[in-house]
Amino acid sequence: MTDGQKTSRRSQAWFGAQGRSGMLYRSWMRNQGLGHEVFDGRPVIGIATSASELAPCNAHLTRVAEAVKRGVWQAGGLPLQFPTMATGETLMRPTAMLYRNLMAMEVEELIRANPLDGVVLLSGCDKTTPAMLMGAASVDLPAVMVTGGPMLNGKYRGQDVGSGTHVWKFEEDLKTGRMTEEECFFAEGCMARSNGHCMTMGTASTMACMAEALGMQLPGSAAWPAVDARRMETAQAAGQRIVRMVEEELRPSRILTREAFENAIRVNAAIGGSTNAIIHLTAIAGRVGVDLRLRDFDDLVRAVPTLVNLMPSGKYLMEDFCYAGGLPAVIAELLRGGLLHGGQITVTGRTVAENTENAECLDSDVITSLDAPFQPAGTGTAVLRGNLCPDGAVIKQSAASPHLLTHRGPARVFDSPEAYHEVADDPELDIDENTVIVIRNAGPKGYPGMPEVSNVPLPAKLLKAGVKDMVRVCDGRMSGTGYGTVVLHVAPEAAVGGPLALVRDGDPVVLDVPNRTLRLDVDDAELTRRREAWRAPVERHTSGYTWLYTQNVEQADQGADFGFLRGCRGHEVPRDSH
Ligand code: FES
Ligand code: MG
Repeated sequence: MTDGQKTSRRSQAWFGAQGRSGMLYRSWMRNQGLGHEVFDGRPVIGIATSASELAPCNAHLTRVAEAVKRGVWQAGGLPLQFPTMATGETLMRPTAMLYRNLMAMEVEELIRANPLDGVVLLSGCDKTTPAMLMGAASVDLPAVMVTGGPMLNGKYRGQDVGSGTHVWKFEEDLKTGRMTEEECFFAEGCMARSNGHCMTMGTASTMACMAEALGMQLPGSAAWPAVDARRMETAQAAGQRIVRMVEEELRPSRILTREAFENAIRVNAAIGGSTNAIIHLTAIAGRVGVDLRLRDFDDLVRAVPTLVNLMPSGKYLMEDFCYAGGLPAVIAELLRGGLLHGGQITVTGRTVAENTENAECLDSDVITSLDAPFQPAGTGTAVLRGNLCPDGAVIKQSAASPHLLTHRGPARVFDSPEAYHEVADDPELDIDENTVIVIRNAGPKGYPGMPEVSNVPLPAKLLKAGVKDMVRVCDGRMSGTGYGTVVLHVAPEAAVGGPLALVRDGDPVVLDVPNRTLRLDVDDAELTRRREAWRAPVERHTSGYTWLYTQNVEQADQGADFGFLRGCRGHEVPRDSH
């Protein structure tokens, strides 16, 4: 390494400083047993870990970080691990999504404020992956992601059970008396039997695949189970690779191009991924100035069949996906069909096409081919428009019932998910299978935080009568592990005066997914009258983070980021602390 290279390294503005300043920067670091020689201008690599016992999907990341560290040392870098916030899906109230932007802010500021040349991002649970990508993209120092990997397949009484997906099934079984409470306790343990994130193609697995499809994670890395030794190998390889990326100045802005997002959107369709990817990809794109529109998520996927047969849309789980060849096999197949931009650069320094040259599908039942796909093109996520959702809404067709994709039924409106839950088990409930259940005030500002509450369970009396699905319409989200004919992300949301706020019981709602429309069959004059009479709800939050959130969060179709966090602010810090 030449002296010129040493002094140009960002971290040398700290560790290479002369006099008292340099002493302050180095001396305290040496209390960790680091010798003077590690400050010689080698790349300083931050390892951002969202390990937390409160985010069980990320709890093992400290071990993954050790493997990354090994890789960084091997390649001649100096690894420095630091903790970030962790947004665990299962415990955080009112919803982990409320904190995605906070975590993204934290990641961004921590990277920028510290003497780092590059960063490895360790995530797992749903929101932690987009939060880290958003934060890192806004700093634009070389960055590589290592997701923590899925849990092993759930196993209950000889059958594979999927985390998330089977929670709904078990709940229905409990309600209808097919399962006792004791059996249910036992089943809980069967569902989550190893470290890792949800092993269905829920949001965590989807976002891990999105990180890989965008080119921000090493090929094959998304699918290795959390407890597979090869998870640690891929982490170590990422540690080695980030050191080279610093030398090559391979930054997120070179990787996260419009074409990379188009690749990710198509891969999401092919894997039958979560609807939440729409919001997260839009938010990440906003950080790098790529203008993704909701309609891109429909236009770009119409020619893409679902290739991957995983729960919640299919039958297999992430462990099977891994053994079948993982994401590289999917990408190779899409490339064969001319459905991806193969020339996109990735964290390997090589292109998408080069990365997957030798990728192979090892189980064509799990990863199907374009010639005989699991589900035909055009049956993935659809974006709807109409007078009920002027800025769009989303429905995951593969998780819906085909007979409900065109449906006309009377609305039964609930002003909150809680209002519905209060009456859902009432045997006298005035709802039949044709009713459209409308749940509002579950959007970004209204809830606040846009929780995963849209796929409310069906009324108990209808479940008992054998009804399996009904149309539900909501301005909230649905868990990536969920299913049902549920219209999501209705924008603008009710709390800001979107038309959802104007619906009344009995209004005919017309869903026509083949024609991509969601309409309220009420005439315009009447809707105008109702709009004039509408009053914005009183602001419940007047201070604290939740206030900041409700004041700044953008609508679902914009990615639900804070307006003031859009864009890349770079890594410069002009002033010293001493
Ligand atoms: Fe964390 Fe599903 S709850 S990934
Ligand atoms: Mg989730």
